Amino acid sequence: MIETRSRETIVRQRYAAGAKERAEKLCCPVDYQSEYLKVIPREVIERDYGCGDPSRYLHEGEIVLDIGSGTGKICFIAAQIVGPKGKVIGVDMTDEMLEVARRNAPIVAERIGCANVEFRKGRIQDLALDLELLDRQLKEHPITNAASFLAADDLAEELRCKHPLIASDSIDVVVSNCVLNLVEPESKRQLFDEVFRVLRKGGRAVISDIVSDEEVPEEMQNDSELWNDCISGALTEEGFLAAFEGAGFYGIQILKRDVDPWRTVQGIEFRSVTVEAFKGKQGECFERNQAVIYRGPFKEVLDDDNHRMERGRRYAVCDKTYNLYKKAPYREFFDFVDPIVDLPLADAKPFDCSRTSLRHPKETKGQDYNATKEANSKCCDGGSCS
Ligand SMILES: C[S@@+](CC[C@H](N)C(=O)[O-])C[C@H]1O[C@@H](n2cnc3c(N)ncnc32)[C@H](O)[C@@H]1O
Repeated sequence: MIETRSRETIVRQRYAAGAKERAEKLCCPVDYQSEYLKVIPREVIERDYGCGDPSRYLHEGEIVLDIGSGTGKICFIAAQIVGPKGKVIGVDMTDEMLEVARRNAPIVAERIGCANVEFRKGRIQDLALDLELLDRQLKEHPITNAASFLAADDLAEELRCKHPLIASDSIDVVVSNCVLNLVEPESKRQLFDEVFRVLRKGGRAVISDIVSDEEVPEEMQNDSELWNDCISGALTEEGFLAAFEGAGFYGIQILKRDVDPWRTVQGIEFRSVTVEAFKGKQGECFERNQAVIYRGPFKEVLDDDNHRMERGRRYAVCDKTYNLYKKAPYREFFDFVDPIVDLPLADAKPFDCSRTSLRHPKETKGQDYNATKEANSKCCDGGSCS
């Protein structure tokens, strides 16, 4: 088993070299949207080590964090999409990558007419710790003995709390392109937790990465060449989605899955996928007499809170679930039934979300509802039904 730090050091050294000179084997060809590449300097585009294009799923005005930003290509594309109302932060641990990205940022800013990108130094599994701030502090308080070594731990913890590299709940969209597989297995859980932490409620992750169709055997995991080639650290396709689920995300879906593997090693296929996952299902559940109807096409669905719903039936949901379903990625699959008499949230009672139950129409209309009305003219386009 390779020692954890040495894996990270090997990755850093390999990508430090990759920042200086293009390394062919480190990337898998991607078709980026060419209109966004025009303003990006050649050295950035040449030193592209991505496997997908999460920038395709961004919108104007969003605050975007690119983890493992390399020489900055995805950040520079994102800067054009989010525009002056948005902002892009790239995080990378490799000085040489940051140097190329930072040197090119003013060039791109001038060409697009706005400086909305910045690059910060950190490890993506520890997005609270600002490594440049730590560097500065360690210069003032160098590690000279065991006591100062242990004190450095306290110092790092203090920096995480008082001056986090990326604050909690501050980001609209976390993107990443071919980096998560490079993080050692022991830190992967923490990595997904960190992505979750920095996103605001209602935010989302859009991650492109290499995944495998079978578990990667231990001897392949210990091969540092394959590790750097984005092979050894790949999660399985199921494991990748499960990692988002484990961190508390919902609405997880595969936006793109390459049919052809990028590489096949010892019969195991490694391919690029892009996955989207949302933050925001946590919180209290209140009863406001709302109902939803799953439209189909499947006979039934199961959401990330274990609500199982059959096509076409009216289900009672709490206010939180009702509002989640009204947004992406669920919106198009549901019809929504508001109660005739609105129950303000302040007066609502707790709702037991651990079970799924049907909702009788009388509950949304009111038990005493007994109206008889003329035909609704909207239904027949102006009232002429003949
Ligand atoms: C395969 S390259 C991808 C770079 C970039 N996303 C792109 O599309 O070209 C991986 C990048 O992730 C960085 N990286 C790897 N592990 C990291 C970690 N644990 N924390 C921060 N950066 C990391 C490397 O320095 C390198 O720049």
